Amino acid sequence: MLPTGFVMGVATSAFQVEGAVHDGGRELSVWDDFSHQPGRIRGGANADTTADHYGRFAEDVDLMTELGIDSYRFSFGWPRLQPGGSGSLNPEGIAFYDRLLDRLLAAGISPMATLFHWDTPVELRGGWLNRDTAHRFGDYAYEVGEVFGDRIDRWVTLNEPATVMLNGYALGIHAPGSTLLFDALPAGHNQLLGHGLAVQALRAASVKGAIGIANVYSPTSPVTSSDDDVAFAGLFDTVHNTMFGDAVLLGRYPEVPDAFARLLRPIVEADPADLATIHQPLDFYGVNYYFPTRIASGSGGVASPDGEASAMTSLPFHLGAWPEFQRTNFGWPVAPEFMTVALEQLAARYGDALPPVFVTEGGVSLPDEAAPDAETGVTRIVDSARIDYLTTHLEAALEAAAAPGGATLLGYYVWSLLDNFEWAAGYSQRFGLVHVDFSTGDRTPKESFAWLQRVLEARS
Ligand code: NOJ
Repeated sequence: MLPTGFVMGVATSAFQVEGAVHDGGRELSVWDDFSHQPGRIRGGANADTTADHYGRFAEDVDLMTELGIDSYRFSFGWPRLQPGGSGSLNPEGIAFYDRLLDRLLAAGISPMATLFHWDTPVELRGGWLNRDTAHRFGDYAYEVGEVFGDRIDRWVTLNEPATVMLNGYALGIHAPGSTLLFDALPAGHNQLLGHGLAVQALRAASVKGAIGIANVYSPTSPVTSSDDDVAFAGLFDTVHNTMFGDAVLLGRYPEVPDAFARLLRPIVEADPADLATIHQPLDFYGVNYYFPTRIASGSGGVASPDGEASAMTSLPFHLGAWPEFQRTNFGWPVAPEFMTVALEQLAARYGDALPPVFVTEGGVSLPDEAAPDAETGVTRIVDSARIDYLTTHLEAALEAAAAPGGATLLGYYVWSLLDNFEWAAGYSQRFGLVHVDFSTGDRTPKESFAWLQRVLEARS
């Protein structure tokens, strides 16, 4: 099923899996603060321990070896490596990632490292609304590049800057919890500037690995062909998809209709010098694809995709439902055909400006209850819907790549190796190939793990 040379990986991020938030000189990130505020996280959960990857990384690398995976996408915890968000790196933080990398490399697993997966150090006042954070991020990238540049095969600067801007600064359902709606746009621009500065910094540090970014992409369409639905779908597409892709790959922000020019002023009037910095040549482009989006004019109605009530209800548009598709435990539509559409749209929009693509994330949350097998009594987690999800999405991605003019597809990373802290949803959404019992830390591979193991074995 998998073409020769196609990279299969599994992904995690520091805040979601590591735990040990007070160990090894780590300081706090905005997510530590946010998750300890009452009412922010489902079930009142926090990530203080989560899957304890910090303590159990060796066991986790052994699981990856057993799985037969090619590559591990993880993130460097910014508050672990550079606790205050500036200055030299924390030796204990370096030591942890040294141990992880040694183990991965000894196992022949290729590391893909994300520099920023949402854990902004709290000391960076104003977070991404403050332009200075972009410069701090560039400096951090240089330090990390100098220390780890000889061992990382692929670098991802930012993970889903759109989600940070929208969920964190516009809607307030993620850290830092601001509800600025369209005034959140500078948080998107400043992250993009940070991306450009980080690419320059990694190159200045002479890292050996390829460099890219991981942007979420959700094909967006209007619920009806009415002018209003079409206009608001275009607006959503701009702030979720195209402003991030265009800035990075084309060095400009998308054209916006006059009616929205005032709302989108920070991108309409962005400094061309910033856009030149953002527009760095990339070795690959990372796409996180989970589901498509439908937009209808009119406020209220449907809340955010993860079912949280949010500031979105005060916008003049809302998310439409997808009654024709099955839903994940999160309520997200399962629509593999839109995995194909996503890659087709990216290839059509960017043409030669689109570097080879990795699907840097794809996966599904399911109830995943552990139950004893009727005959053997052995605990099993039967997640057939995850096997279906991954099979159909992989096929859909490969189909897009095989089409004439299709994107060059280098690989696919399953979100996630482990069940983990799913942001505002806490531990209510399990995405792992490996089940984690959060009271003991015990890991149990699910049926999907055995399925992927067979797929990977069949290659050789
Ligand atoms: C995208 C994010 O990068 C990741 O952190 C999150 O857990 C998954 N989507 C699932 O929501």
